[in-house]
Amino acid sequence: MSEAVQSEPIGKFKKRVFSGVQPSGGLTLGNYLGAIKRFVQMQNDDYETIYCVVDLHAITVWQNPKMLRQNIRELAASFIASGLDPKKSILFNQSAVPEHAQLGWVFNCVARMGWMQRMTQFKDKAGKNAQNASLGLFGYPALMAADILAYHATHVPVGDDQKQHLELTRDIAIKFNHDYEIDFFPVTEPVIGGPAARVMSLRDGTKKMSKSDPSDLSRINMTDNSDMIANKIRKAKTDQYGLPSEPKGLEGRAEAQNLVSIYAALGDQSLESVLSEIGGKQFSDFKPMLVERATAVLSPISSEMGRIMQDIPQLDKVLNDGAFKAKSLAEPILKKTFDIIGLN
Ligand code: AMP
Ligand code: TRP
Repeated sequence: MSEAVQSEPIGKFKKRVFSGVQPSGGLTLGNYLGAIKRFVQMQNDDYETIYCVVDLHAITVWQNPKMLRQNIRELAASFIASGLDPKKSILFNQSAVPEHAQLGWVFNCVARMGWMQRMTQFKDKAGKNAQNASLGLFGYPALMAADILAYHATHVPVGDDQKQHLELTRDIAIKFNHDYEIDFFPVTEPVIGGPAARVMSLRDGTKKMSKSDPSDLSRINMTDNSDMIANKIRKAKTDQYGLPSEPKGLEGRAEAQNLVSIYAALGDQSLESVLSEIGGKQFSDFKPMLVERATAVLSPISSEMGRIMQDIPQLDKVLNDGAFKAKSLAEPILKKTFDIIGLN
């Protein structure tokens, strides 16, 4: 467990984990190592865990309805195939629990324009034509705060790119508590860290590995077969030096740092312990080791995912049951929020 994890309850709030992933197309090794693997670990620790397919976030950019429906199920299947157990964790999709959107509206009225304008993910996603971005894309972080705070979640495991959104979630909780003079929403702790908080592109060690990168060689998809994984790792960019035996030897070597970090995270090792084993090797020796480890982790997940997708009624039932449980937690919190504001 990373040093970022706080094991103590936050104030009066019990330890509850919430996180979400967008169903906007295939998952990458970055999603798995940065987020989903941690979801599974936390489920087995001393937390109540709630994991959500954030479909309302996905539609902040246009989605083909048929594909969206498919992607929602595939994401849920990959959660389960990665080890999320619907008996231990609540698993559901966001649009099935209307409290998210309702609390999201409240937070639209708490968050400030200036806060939103500072969000780097909005700037990246909107690109040069920000005037043409949807209002939903701009307000996205307020809905994310609602996802988390509708459950009074205390801990949120995410990759490094979500840090700024979680700071905004904290700001919204603090402002709400301050404006209504009540200690109602917890100030959530991000859980970010470990060697794979930021998995980089295989083609450019300065760019994040992303499902939206135009080059498929830049990423490992969770459904890639072993030949594809081997090919991508073989072609991954490196430098001409050998591997160091200590982390400081990776400084300024973004690609080497990335490949070694991926190897460490896949094997639940620290960078130090990996480098003490592989220091002195050339990439030509190290890459096959990485292929073997990546295949050993991903192959069983992708075949399990295929199996789960064979039984859609069962998968839908898991999501429906999850939505029912999630709603039973969020409903009283929304009701109390409305009471505090003076809405009922
Ligand atoms: P998204 O696919 O953008 O909904 O991201 C889902 C989760 O995966 C979030 O917690 C992200 O921070 C995490 N994530 C996405 N890409 C990466 C990456 N390249 N490295 C580490 N974590 C990532
Ligand atoms: N914004 C997150 C991402 O793009 C997804 C997300 C939505 C989320 N709501 C959340 C993550 C709540 C954690 C908690 O990856």
